[in-house]
Amino acid sequence: MPVAVVVGMQWGDEGKGKVVDLFSREADVVARYSGGNNAGHTIYQDGKPYVLHLIPSGIFHPDKLCVIGNGVVVDPSALAEEIAMLEKAGVSLENRLSLSDRANIIMPYHCLSDRGRESSSQFKKIGTTGRGIGPTYADKMARAGIRTADFVDTDRLREKFLANYEEKKKVLKHLYGHEIPEFSQLFDDLLGYREILLKYMGDSHAVMKRQIAENKNVLCEGAQGVMLDVDHGTYPYVTSSNSTAGGACTGLGIPPTKIDRVAGVIKAYTTRVGEGPFPTELLDADGEQLRKDGHEFGSTTGRPRRCGWFDAVVARYAIELNGIDAIALTKIDVLDNFDVVKVCTGYRHNGKIIEEMPPSLDVLENCEPVYKEFKGWREKTSGVEDFQKLPDNAKRYIDGLREILGVGFLMISTGPQAQETICLEKLF
Ligand code: IMP
Repeated sequence: MPVAVVVGMQWGDEGKGKVVDLFSREADVVARYSGGNNAGHTIYQDGKPYVLHLIPSGIFHPDKLCVIGNGVVVDPSALAEEIAMLEKAGVSLENRLSLSDRANIIMPYHCLSDRGRESSSQFKKIGTTGRGIGPTYADKMARAGIRTADFVDTDRLREKFLANYEEKKKVLKHLYGHEIPEFSQLFDDLLGYREILLKYMGDSHAVMKRQIAENKNVLCEGAQGVMLDVDHGTYPYVTSSNSTAGGACTGLGIPPTKIDRVAGVIKAYTTRVGEGPFPTELLDADGEQLRKDGHEFGSTTGRPRRCGWFDAVVARYAIELNGIDAIALTKIDVLDNFDVVKVCTGYRHNGKIIEEMPPSLDVLENCEPVYKEFKGWREKTSGVEDFQKLPDNAKRYIDGLREILGVGFLMISTGPQAQETICLEKLF
């Protein structure tokens, strides 16, 4: 099965970094298809944590080709910083990184606009990462975006940048009272990234086509999660791209008929960052314990994550939307210190039980979770590498999830390090 897509099944932060890093050992190509440096994938190398925001998690394996697809929005300063971090760690990127010539570039005015809108009383606060993601995708759809290939001809780049600059300057001043830095300063800064962008620039569709034709194992790495998808998530409390598996086709230029399997990554409980409905959120000591034991603080912004019990309505929705045929379950060890562990199997709303994701935000905001309870295990699962060695109640919890979801597990993660994993099935 040479082409696999890996998606997050909740609101992001499911532990995709570690899972993709493990799957990429069997892959030849690892490709990112959506989002930007709003994502943060933590990977442990020789016991040391590295956070990747843009470059695919396969980069730590020397023989893998890493692709940043056209569906990704790229902040050149973040890319340069990440490349420098990897080079310092001794990772060679030469002939291993390909950045799509069609990827839209995040400009400083996008970040100003993101933060301006978030702090304005005129608009609903989304709780964005402030990385300029939404405004960059908005410009892409408005056909005003600047793409990697625009850096080839600096006169054309200047023209496009100037047109955008003049517009954004007025909007930012008028709406948010923000002064934007001088044109020449911003343009000179931008040109400073030209060399690095052009050095890695490639045609992601052509690269993917070649790799697929050669029957290589291709792993398409999703960012964020299903519930943050701009079409299918808890809109407007979502990110601005398609994080679901379909985004891999448009975001990399690969045909849907070439995708062989879709794997989901899901945490043994639920978290979300930013605003928006979250039916199983725990605002009590249990929520605090999940946050503390799970180190639930954003790897991009450092914000404390909202925590709650596992939500099977969300998980089933993710399975349906993406065609998920196997799951990587993460952070089971974070549940080690509870007497009772709960799974939400449906939502109660106006006296009725709903088992499917309601399209209305109002229903989601005002429903009450219906829980199935499992006995806790109060034993250490961290570091366990063999399913049989798990405490009986942990096995019952995992088997219970499998039954509720109707999909089996590829792996169960019992800690942040690569070896802290129960491997059950191969991805490719
Ligand atoms: P944006 O993507 O920065 O525009 O943020 C929109 C929403 O998506 C906010 O609620 C963010 O907290 C959330 N978000 C974006 N990227 C991630 C991620 O990688 N993990 C978790 N939440 C994210």
